Amino acid sequence: MTTPTASIASYSQDELKALVGQAALAYVKPGEIVGVGTGSTVNKFIEALDGIKSSIAGAVSSSEASTERLKALGIRVFDANEVSSLSVYIDGADEIDGQGFMVKGGGAALTREKIVAALARRFVCIADASKLVDKLGRFPLPVEVIPMAVGQIARRFEAMGAKATLRLKDGAALVTDNGQHILDVQGLEIAEPLAFESEVNQWPGVVTVGVFAHQKASVCLLGTPEGVKTLEY
Ligand code: 5RP
Repeated sequence: MTTPTASIASYSQDELKALVGQAALAYVKPGEIVGVGTGSTVNKFIEALDGIKSSIAGAVSSSEASTERLKALGIRVFDANEVSSLSVYIDGADEIDGQGFMVKGGGAALTREKIVAALARRFVCIADASKLVDKLGRFPLPVEVIPMAVGQIARRFEAMGAKATLRLKDGAALVTDNGQHILDVQGLEIAEPLAFESEVNQWPGVVTVGVFAHQKASVCLLGTPEGVKTLEY
């Protein structure tokens, strides 16, 4: 289903992100706590949330960056340990396929994103149309890794024919909100996301792999030139 949201059927990528961020408000239940992801698309959702903040109890956030934005708007941020379940978690993706399987972690928040997603009954993915793929693997796969295992995990990926690169920030290894590093892995074709996620997640030293198959999207609000398209899985 496509909902036309303006008469001009042409949007910039930024506008598409704003459209899906706004559309995600329909999934936020009054009086409840909402799960909030991380990234530039989620930032648009947080901006939209500002308009209805008095009707919600607050949020559980997946990163220090989103927490800061939410708090700046006066939205109460609950610790994930304070809640036992959420109706909905809203987050972006680096890739999403036709089954709702995703690659995430471009913003280095994948572990907390998976933790908050696991609390939610519904994962609503918000993305512009460039994120829709036939098969996962085009975007370099983020993997959060304990620093002492970086070399070992990189060699495991190299043995699979892929190339793992340590993500840098300001010339040094990026340190995540959890104090770990990120490997970005190129050259993978992820034909079986569920099996792949289970396999890599049990390698010693891997904190989380950025394949979201066990915590896949229930709904994707896709920003297209014609408006917001709703994909249900
Ligand atoms: C952060 C993520 C983001 O959801 C993903 O990188 C998409 O970000 P953006 O909305 O900026 O394209 O997984 O860790």
